[in-house]
Amino acid sequence: MNKEKLKPIGIFDSGLGGLTVLKEVRKLLPDESLIYFGDSGRAPYGTKSEETVRAYTAQDISFLLSKGVKAVVVACNTAAACAGKDLLDSFGVPVVEVIGAGSEEAARVTTSGKIGVIGTQATIRSGVYERAVRSILPDCVFSSKACPLFVPLVEEGWWDDDITVEVAKRYLSEIGDIDTLVLGCTHYPYLENVIRKVTGGRVTLVNSAKAVAHKLEATLEKEGLKNAKGPATVEYYTSDSVDKFASLGELFLGNLGGKVFRADTEAFS
Ligand code: DGL
Repeated sequence: MNKEKLKPIGIFDSGLGGLTVLKEVRKLLPDESLIYFGDSGRAPYGTKSEETVRAYTAQDISFLLSKGVKAVVVACNTAAACAGKDLLDSFGVPVVEVIGAGSEEAARVTTSGKIGVIGTQATIRSGVYERAVRSILPDCVFSSKACPLFVPLVEEGWWDDDITVEVAKRYLSEIGDIDTLVLGCTHYPYLENVIRKVTGGRVTLVNSAKAVAHKLEATLEKEGLKNAKGPATVEYYTSDSVDKFASLGELFLGNLGGKVFRADTEAFS
């Protein structure tokens, strides 16, 4: 038995939104142990500069490596957008990120090549989704829109509220004619119902969290790192209050299924 297989997978996000990714990974890979790091003490990332988010991303991955993970999932779209491939490939373990996974899925499901992406200001400003989609479908018609009010609305628990519908109408009216919309932010899967109300049945929604879970599985299989036997455990680390993480975490996930620890951010290097 390859002992590497027994090591946990690390998942990180700027805060709790990445629990949408953890949920999909747990569903698809129930025998894998997981270590989740939410950098709530420095969130949000979506309003920060590319250099700052890049530096945070390197520290977040180093923190997970200090816990002995065999692979890392960048659940945060903003981190993935700002980090760049060179940085993500420099850690000596497979690093899988949401933007590549979501873009591949969008290119696969689009029927007319008209693709939209919504995300934080930093993600949309980076243009990374557009480059990733165009590298697969060079002639696609691409549009995007930053939706900064969505993250606080989700964290307020207003997932299916009239106010959220109004906000969604305003943002999405600025997206052109599309058949596929990528939910390019950790929090947006919670707004699927609201977004569907606004876009109607004609638009396919791509949940990047699901797409990255599938990409992770393929990567583990390719690297001979997939653990199909368990036993699976889950641990959570936060750079902010443990109590706050636990209560918002329960709202996001129902049941966390593991303990929450305060991250020793001294381990950041
Ligand atoms: N996790 C971020 C993302 O997916 C959203 C929250 C933030 O701005 O930090 O882009």
